[in-house]
Amino acid sequence: MLLAERMSRLGTESAFEVLARAQKLAHEGQSIINLGIGQPDFPTPANIVAAAQKALADGHHGYTPANGILPLREAVAADILKYRGVEVHPDRIVIVPGGKVTMYFAITMFGEPGVEIMYPDPGFPIYRSVIEFTGARAVPIPLYEDSGFSFSADEVLDQITPRTRLIIVNSPANPTGGVVLKDELDKLVAGLERHPQVVVMSDEIYARMVYDNVPHASLLVYPELADRLILLDGWSKTYAMTGWRLGYAVWPEPLVEHATRLAINIHSCVNAATQWAGIEALTGPQDEAERMVRAFDERRKVIVERLNDLPGVRCVRPGGAFYAFPNITGTGYGSRALQDRLLDETGVALVSGTSFGIHGEGYIRFSYANSIENIEAAIDRIARFLER
Ligand SMILES: Cc1ncc(COP(=O)(O)O)c(C=O)c1O
Repeated sequence: MLLAERMSRLGTESAFEVLARAQKLAHEGQSIINLGIGQPDFPTPANIVAAAQKALADGHHGYTPANGILPLREAVAADILKYRGVEVHPDRIVIVPGGKVTMYFAITMFGEPGVEIMYPDPGFPIYRSVIEFTGARAVPIPLYEDSGFSFSADEVLDQITPRTRLIIVNSPANPTGGVVLKDELDKLVAGLERHPQVVVMSDEIYARMVYDNVPHASLLVYPELADRLILLDGWSKTYAMTGWRLGYAVWPEPLVEHATRLAINIHSCVNAATQWAGIEALTGPQDEAERMVRAFDERRKVIVERLNDLPGVRCVRPGGAFYAFPNITGTGYGSRALQDRLLDETGVALVSGTSFGIHGEGYIRFSYANSIENIEAAIDRIARFLER
């Protein structure tokens, strides 16, 4: 077989490898506490499940339009108005099977050899993977612990070259839980006026998970960016729907046709019942989604305090999502070694910071999408390991 050369450049998401290894160990009888996987530990709310069941019973079994059914796109537009205060025409919304698909569409639309695409580092590993897959140069935007893993707009703007076509921003962020504040976004948007060829993809999949009464700052609110902003969001995290595969993007008007054509070439449409469930998620009661966020917030406080008590570990308080990203350099272990030893010797599954980029060394990702009892038990095990 002669594979296309670009296949050698496709990366992966190590969280899935850690999950597979943790499951194998659990199968062999080890007691595993999984703080490795980035998905809510709650079931999808019952009203959403019922809506999918009803859609199937009502006969929604066929293809839908590639960009998604109109009532779902209208529900998304209403949701955007409610939570971001911005009016978006439903025709600019494209429904896709998960947030990742928008990422792939946007990066493949702009990426090719000779082009530069900027992405957050440490950041969601698929950004860099797909950028390199296209042959474009992946340019990291370094995120630093001492600024709460926000980015510096000046640092982003300074790295723009005539070859820069796309900048990826993610707030609240995976794996750091970092939140970019409105002031920094204001600066970025003002500076981008000097670079009218640069498109921005704002991954706001954790938008509803922001703590300490800080409002979520969305890049969608800037009219001056509207003709070159791709907003990525979806249902996976907010409604505990990771396995349903449902996401959406708001595209600048001229890109809608390209995104729709990619959908037609790849997946035709998202399965119909899931789309009806998506309507119920957005338009039905929000109590379950809000209850989840309150639970994450409570766990966040517990985990950060406990992590800061561990020898050689310090952890900034994450402002959003459900991740903590402590600095572990003081433990004397490298990130990958600590990930492997903690899994093998204590049964605690975590993901090494190095899985999220070159600036992830010295850190390890904890997902606190798990019960307080499990979080406490995991940290007890880690404490015993580090104190030996
Ligand atoms: C920052 C970020 N964007 C997008 C996604 C993808 O979400 P989905 O499961 O909807 O594809 C994830 C999932 O972990 C994520 O962390």
